[in-house]
Amino acid sequence: GKGTYPFYMLKEIDEQPTVMRHLISTYADANGKMKVAPEIVESVQKADRIYIIAAGTSYNAGFGAKTMLEELTNTPVELGLASEWGYDMPLLSAHPFFIFLTQSGETADSRQVLVKVNELGLPSLTITNVPGSTLSREATYTLLIGAGPEIAVASTKAYTGQIATLAFLAKAVGEAEGNTKAFEFDLVTELSLVAQSIEATLSEKEKIGEIVAKNLLTTRNAFYIGRKQDYFVAMEASLKLKEISYVQCEGFAAGELKHGTISLIEKGTPVIALISNNEKVALHTRGNVMETVARGASAIIIAEDGASRADDDIIVNAVHPYLSAISMIIPTQLIAYETSFQRGLDVDKPRNLAKAVTVE
Ligand code: F6R
Repeated sequence: GKGTYPFYMLKEIDEQPTVMRHLISTYADANGKMKVAPEIVESVQKADRIYIIAAGTSYNAGFGAKTMLEELTNTPVELGLASEWGYDMPLLSAHPFFIFLTQSGETADSRQVLVKVNELGLPSLTITNVPGSTLSREATYTLLIGAGPEIAVASTKAYTGQIATLAFLAKAVGEAEGNTKAFEFDLVTELSLVAQSIEATLSEKEKIGEIVAKNLLTTRNAFYIGRKQDYFVAMEASLKLKEISYVQCEGFAAGELKHGTISLIEKGTPVIALISNNEKVALHTRGNVMETVARGASAIIIAEDGASRADDDIIVNAVHPYLSAISMIIPTQLIAYETSFQRGLDVDKPRNLAKAVTVE
């Protein structure tokens, strides 16, 4: 049950530090060595391209892990929307490896692609939260997220759990390849720091509630902006807000606003900027925030410690850049939750939606 929580979503948001620690004990031994099945590692090693197929939040989780996966495995990663790839497959590489990201393991769109992949006799891995689910049974391999049942329709701990699971896979494959970067990436320590960063953000609930009360209670639209990794987080942050608060929200690459979309900014339009600790892009994103403020936007800045300034609205404790999608999504989950809650909506059961989408 949800105990003293008003909604499952808040309980599931709060469970994320535990999910991270659980994954450490599942996929690393006491000496920090990876415990990912060798046949999975070998199969990924043989691939010249990794295709990640998913829908919705799971698709966004794939983006959250893309750069890490590419750098640690030295293999290009392509993302595919399940609902698009179920028709004709695009031109595939010579040795593809397919990863299906699916919390429920029952998403019909994703299964449709897996059926095609199996017809072609190609290797596949399902990363899921539900043991024995359809996509788990039908793929060559399975890795479990082990996040515990996710009841709220809006996915939270499965998103962060999927990225963390992909980190173990990426490191295991990278080490098998002899990639120095993989050995240097101390995932057990870094993921423990992520758990602590999440806890620190969770202790800011009240402050986040106030930010929501001030900026998001009556607005019809909003923007999340960021560059690179923060852009991927912006996509998921905006999906979460739309899904449960019915605020129309776009997740945008910060540099693209000026190519058209900035015309939507009006007086009071909330623009939430995500600025993680990446010196190549942080200043550019701040510049983009100023451009929207000059056109009347109400800017809310979520910055990672190291890239943050004293007057930023929410400061997130710094983590390894490979894992920043996990720590940076937390304040946005709370923003979505608070916006829905303060508007008096049914946070766990948004209109028109079901938990597992078993129709195409
Ligand atoms: C959003 C959400 C959906 C799911 C999507 C895929 O919060 O939950 O976007 O992520 O329907 O579901 P799974 O991961 O079960 O395949």
